Amino acid sequence: QKYAQSAQSGPLRQRIAADGKHQLLSVDQFSRESVEELFRIADLMQPIARRQKVSRVLEGAVLGNLFFEASTRTRVSFGAAFCRLGGSVCDTTGFTFSSMAKGESIYDTSRVLSGYVDAMVIRHPDQGSVAEFARATNIPVVNGGDGPGEHPSQALLDLYTILTEFSRLGKLLDGAHIALVGDLKYGRTVHSLIKLLALYRGLKFTLVAPKGLEMPDYILEQVGRHGGHVIEQTHSLEEGLVGADVIYATRVQKERFSGEDLEGYSADFQVNKAIVDQCCGPDVIVMHPLPRDSREGANDLSVDLNDDPRLAIFRQTDNGIPVRMAIFAVLLGVEGLVQHSLRDV
Ligand code: CP
Repeated sequence: QKYAQSAQSGPLRQRIAADGKHQLLSVDQFSRESVEELFRIADLMQPIARRQKVSRVLEGAVLGNLFFEASTRTRVSFGAAFCRLGGSVCDTTGFTFSSMAKGESIYDTSRVLSGYVDAMVIRHPDQGSVAEFARATNIPVVNGGDGPGEHPSQALLDLYTILTEFSRLGKLLDGAHIALVGDLKYGRTVHSLIKLLALYRGLKFTLVAPKGLEMPDYILEQVGRHGGHVIEQTHSLEEGLVGADVIYATRVQKERFSGEDLEGYSADFQVNKAIVDQCCGPDVIVMHPLPRDSREGANDLSVDLNDDPRLAIFRQTDNGIPVRMAIFAVLLGVEGLVQHSLRDV
């Protein structure tokens, strides 16, 4: 058993509800107990995600996958997760091919689509916009990333990955040292992840960001309210990585600012094999939400770690499927049916 047993009772979807609705807008909806309960459901989904078993618990259900910002992983893995549970998916990508290009409001879009689909996953460039979609509907809504706000499903699969890797290595998350590196100001995945990690005890966070791209104060204050964690901020990659159990690198979100904040950002912030060997032990985990920027002059995560077993990025992306299946099962109230629905392929 990888996770501590929940001390609470009652359906998980009631306990993580937002404004009484079965929606996933923020990691703030979770306690340590409820997040670990979700992960036990994700464990149950693993054989379906690997296509060793089949389940049709969402047969007849339709997902509206609405992505008004670029995405590869989140859009496809949410769609694949819904399909693997027997449902069907309708996609809209970009504003150009939606009637929002003709001035339709979030409220009208959400009300209309509520009559067509059984759940919606939404990515939108504006912070708070997915909550606006959610207020206009009673069907389950999942935040697939709202500008620089949150990316709760990414943080959930990141935490699931950390716990799975630690379990393999015989380590505990309580007391661990987590280094978050890169654009901590605009990177929504780190905003959600640090809040989720703060549900654990006695963590040391080293926050390594270029000048001007530091973690926002409102997130630091929220993490600080948990008590018992140590937070150190630095502009030195070497200083921040020494002794880390997890390195979580991120890309600079160039699409969210004009570029003047980039002053001081250089190859000095690249996580690569040399710095990982220099600063960390053989069982460090190197993570990244992806995409990593492979263009000339980009800095976030070197390809020279690609064959290094410490690099967990593709195990991390694989975990997106069972975790997102678990999210759908809970929000649509079918998690109790999964075990008995399993069939051989
Ligand atoms: N991690 C992530 O959100 O990736 P995409 O932008 O490709 O969805």
